[in-house]
Amino acid sequence: MKAPVRVAVTGAAGQIGYALLFRIAAGDMLGPDQPVILHLLEITPALPALNGVVMELNDCAFPTLHGVVATDDVNVAFKDVDFALLVGARPRGPGMERKDLLEANGAIFAPQGKAINDHAKRDVRVLVVGNPANTNALIAQQNAPDLDPRRFTAMVRLDHNRAISQLAEKTGALNTDIAKVTIWGNHSSTQYPDIHQTTVKGKPALSLVDQTWYENDFIPVVQQRGAAIIKARGASSAASAASAAIDHMRNWALGTAAGDWVSMGIPSDGSYGIEPGVIYGYPVTVSNGSYEIVQGLEINAFSRARMDATDRELREERAAVEHLFAKR
Ligand code: NAI
Repeated sequence: MKAPVRVAVTGAAGQIGYALLFRIAAGDMLGPDQPVILHLLEITPALPALNGVVMELNDCAFPTLHGVVATDDVNVAFKDVDFALLVGARPRGPGMERKDLLEANGAIFAPQGKAINDHAKRDVRVLVVGNPANTNALIAQQNAPDLDPRRFTAMVRLDHNRAISQLAEKTGALNTDIAKVTIWGNHSSTQYPDIHQTTVKGKPALSLVDQTWYENDFIPVVQQRGAAIIKARGASSAASAASAAIDHMRNWALGTAAGDWVSMGIPSDGSYGIEPGVIYGYPVTVSNGSYEIVQGLEINAFSRARMDATDRELREERAAVEHLFAKR
């Protein structure tokens, strides 16, 4: 067994937390030979519920769970952590404008970014799941001036997995037959699920499905899947979101498969003409723990328009929260 690593999860007593913690503790994220110490952060009123979750975690007697810290103090939660999954966020209330939502989340993600800056390991890997995930990740990153900005990422992996599943179902293939799906941009309804480079059993996906299905069914189904789950289940996607968070962190830590890539929300370096600095969904490969944007993909006019639209939304979101950034 390796030495244990510390994994922080915020919003740990919430829905996603309940689907996520047991899988991290069981070794699904970092492997069966990597013990973890969980650092669980909640708001004070949720600490009794969190205590119940900790009791259940202990009752599983997981071989890979070497300790649990449960706290409502951000400075304790991020002390010496190697991984941080920021799940807890302020949901949109009735009649709440996007601007108010961004502001309310700024009050959560600015102090968390600062606490990560002050207390986490210097090579911490941060994944923001709480919505609006891309801009929350930017707020946290901009309050952590001592850390490499590339340590802050946002989750578009659930959208990526949804796209794989939709395409597998349509073509009668297995999920594992699908490669090179991309989610460009924001984890919102402006995201662009792109299958121009995608293959199904090695064949171009767009030679197996018609353009009308791609434009009128596939893209809106993937974009609006979150709302469809809420309508069907009466609650938002939690288990699939937790599973995607595990996938994101596992690939970031352990690498991506040869001949394939994954989608991660990462700080734009200007690749593909996207505004530098915004946290944008890109196709990436990971080796030796470091992600790289897949370069040189051909972008047609159809894709360009959609990639620019989601870029525009992210630039607008950034403009609305810039006052929350720490001065460098
Ligand atoms: P939930 O409401 O069940 O749980 C959220 C938890 O966060 C609550 O227990 C709450 O007490 C806690 N919390 C709130 N503020 C906190 C703070 N400052 N520090 C620590 N904990 C705090 O919500 P659920 O279903 O677990 O979802 C969490 C977030 O994930 C939501 O913002 C949701 O929109 C987002 N989400 C993102 C997805 C993605 O693909 N990026 C997919 C699905 C959900």
